Amino acid sequence: MAEAPVPYDVVIIGGGPGGYNAAIRAGQLGLKVACVEMRATLGGTCLNVGCMPSKALLHASEMFDAANSEFAKIGIEVQPKLNLGQMHKAKDDSVTALTKGIEFLFKKNKADWIKGRGKIVAKGKVEVTAADGSVQALEARNIVIATGSEPTPLPGVAFEAGKVIDSTGALSLPAVPKKLIVIGAGIIGLELGSVWRRLGAEVTVVEFLDRITPGMDTEVATAFQRTLTKQGMVFKLGAKVTGAKPVKDGVELTVEPSAGGTAETLKGDVVLVAIGRRPYTDGLGLETIGVTPDKRGFIDHDHFKVAGQVNEGGVWVIGDVTHGPMLAHKAEEDAVAVIDTIAGKYGHVDYALVPSVVYTFPEVAWVGQTEDQLKAAGVAYKKGKFPFTANSRAKINHETDGFVKVLADAATDKVLGVHIMGPQAGEMIHEAAITMSFGGASEDIARTCHAHPTRSEAVRQAAMDVEGWMMQA
Ligand code: FAD
Ligand code: NAI
Repeated sequence: MAEAPVPYDVVIIGGGPGGYNAAIRAGQLGLKVACVEMRATLGGTCLNVGCMPSKALLHASEMFDAANSEFAKIGIEVQPKLNLGQMHKAKDDSVTALTKGIEFLFKKNKADWIKGRGKIVAKGKVEVTAADGSVQALEARNIVIATGSEPTPLPGVAFEAGKVIDSTGALSLPAVPKKLIVIGAGIIGLELGSVWRRLGAEVTVVEFLDRITPGMDTEVATAFQRTLTKQGMVFKLGAKVTGAKPVKDGVELTVEPSAGGTAETLKGDVVLVAIGRRPYTDGLGLETIGVTPDKRGFIDHDHFKVAGQVNEGGVWVIGDVTHGPMLAHKAEEDAVAVIDTIAGKYGHVDYALVPSVVYTFPEVAWVGQTEDQLKAAGVAYKKGKFPFTANSRAKINHETDGFVKVLADAATDKVLGVHIMGPQAGEMIHEAAITMSFGGASEDIARTCHAHPTRSEAVRQAAMDVEGWMMQA
């Protein structure tokens, strides 16, 4: 009689930043691990159709924009010509290299990639159906759900290839649309809207709320909107799209004021729906283990253990499919915490210190609390602010839009939040995150020597401004 297969210590369903980091960490800790992924490549949304291809297009289009608008000013005369096919190829080549890199890391860390769609069929049992229909049964001491998320559709606005698209469609448009209408002034709408505006599209963003980027500090969001408007993006705030009609040469959208009122028609060649993402649990078999996602589709957990799954044969959940910001680095933090916990170590994520970055130009980055949150909570705080117009590196590079804002506790000076709008804000935010993770004070930043000339000096100056001794503005 054939011997029963040795069960895995961990079977992970989903090979995105949550799943692949969990697999690598499990391998590092000597656990027998498999990761089930149904895409043809590892890396999930982030590597295949999210973070990485969008950043490739943001980088390329930013260079194209600079060649058009900045080069001549600094004495470089060129006539840039867009080769969109090559831009997409460069993006696709980078994505392939990255997803292959994850495959390599799986091999290095002895993590098995089981190709196919995973379904939980009982406690400790996962069935994987491959593309050719063949089925493989896996036994697992622990199952980690890392199935991620998908774009939220908008009722009344049906997707239609090339015309009414989601973020995945917007990453591979075969031509620059003349008029692109973006529904949703969130991160995807502004990043991908920026890409196509820089490449020549007229971009109108329709947003339900009366502000852009909910969640971002309001003072920063207001400045950010002003900058994007200066760049040519048109905003229609406090407006909701109630219908979309594809016509021969584009799409007609019916748009109404959010508060009610007279409808108008907007016409674009392409409409990008970017109103958020929702957890993905289709066909996962949650019902077989008695788990029901919450009203919005998220799987609840208690310290990563799926709510109600207290018995042996652990079921855990990480990443976009559970609560917290839908960000790759948050999924990665969840992954390490859950695997460390399974391995008997201590796993912990400080969700208050997950940084956010919008990779537009300029970038916006923040960590900790916004001024709005501090006011709402009645926290007494001090504020320091420094504009990039007074930062020598930003001035030399003609990149002076934006500022740094440091918020610190009025009594203890502990840093409570740092907000940066400026070039490479996403690289600069981490000195704030590290300071905050050590419970540091604004004076700790203010009295730390920063190299000159760097943009990071603006962070130091904003921290100095908390105590009123900013020196360079
Ligand atoms: P996912 O990456 O969604 O991975 C889940 C994987 O599970 C998928 O590959 C899916 O195929 C697989 N799967 C699902 N069900 C099954 C099943 N039953 N069997 C087998 N496999 C299954 N975040 C950032 O932090 N920075 C960014 O710059 C950024 N940019 C983004 C840009 C865009 C356009 C988009 C759409 C998202 C972006 N994000 C960004 C968000 C980021 O992609 C997600 O937060 C991250 O991918 C979540 O990781 P995850 O592992 O939880 O899920
Ligand atoms: P989002 O949540 O960032 O923004 C959605 C926007 O759409 C909000 O401003 C919301 O008010 C608006 N909206 C909702 N319903 C609407 C309607 N009916 N009509 C008009 N506006 C409406 O979602 P988005 O941009 O789709 O991105 C999804 C997630 O992906 C982000 O929240 C983020 O977690 C992740 N992401 C992260 C990136 C990064 O870290 N740089 C880049 C891209 C995505």
